[in-house]
Amino acid sequence: MLVIGHRGASAYAPEHTLESYDLALELGADFIEQDLQMTSDGVLVVLHDDTLERTTGGRCRGRVIDHTFEQVRSCDAGSWFNTAHPDRARDAFVGTRIPSLEEVFERYADRASFYIETKNPEEAPGMEEALLVLLDQFGLREPAATEWRVVIQSFSERSLRKMSDMDASLPLIQLLHARPETPRTIQARLPRISEYAVGIGPSWRDVDHQLARAAANLCLELHPYTVNDVERMTALTDAGVTGVFTDVPDLLLGQRPSDEPRGRDAVRAAAQRNRQCRDSR
Ligand code: G3P
Ligand code: CA
Repeated sequence: MLVIGHRGASAYAPEHTLESYDLALELGADFIEQDLQMTSDGVLVVLHDDTLERTTGGRCRGRVIDHTFEQVRSCDAGSWFNTAHPDRARDAFVGTRIPSLEEVFERYADRASFYIETKNPEEAPGMEEALLVLLDQFGLREPAATEWRVVIQSFSERSLRKMSDMDASLPLIQLLHARPETPRTIQARLPRISEYAVGIGPSWRDVDHQLARAAANLCLELHPYTVNDVERMTALTDAGVTGVFTDVPDLLLGQRPSDEPRGRDAVRAAAQRNRQCRDSR
């Protein structure tokens, strides 16, 4: 069961900041997740929303795509967390910045695995090409293909197919909205998804035994979002999921048997299992 630090360790630190990623890795998450947005001058930044308000406490406003990187960098991406969660507030969060993807790779490329979402790619033409340039710049394209050092996820099939057209060896995950999907509509989509992706990321609400079996039969990984309690994780493990997105990596890692591989070893083992499954089909 792979543990994906959703926006880092976002229950404990402001989401998608270096503080959140540092913590997720300290806690032992196998992957750290990045949602991508693009600035008006073409820089990939790591932010969930396509607008700046929520994670700057309203002090920065408007769409990311309408701001330059310098403008986005001027925003305080941490103080809102201290206001929203006084029990988890830290002085270090005040004034923390929205990172660029380049900065994230610079800091973690030698020690982490990345689970990167192309977010709203229709509104940011060139996002996929810019991502590929950075993978090459940091020597991550080959380890992405062979040992899943980088997995690319999207709700947009078009974006994933574009990535696949540019490099068919990249591991891709098709995300699925909770609505209008149901376990059965997702199941019906699996053969088509298996043409270009190595797995799916549905809402945990849409996972049942039947869907897990159908995904496994097509050698598709099953990584539901977002699982923040042990009971739910146990039920999902019993159903047969192969990974989870979580805001509380420590809670879920506490359930992992101590003799199982962790971090990059766990990711490498999953990539190997998946390849063997595909080769045997
Ligand atoms: O990428 C998996 C999950 O994060 C999808 O939902 O809205 O948190 O990006 P969201
Ligand atoms: Ca995401």
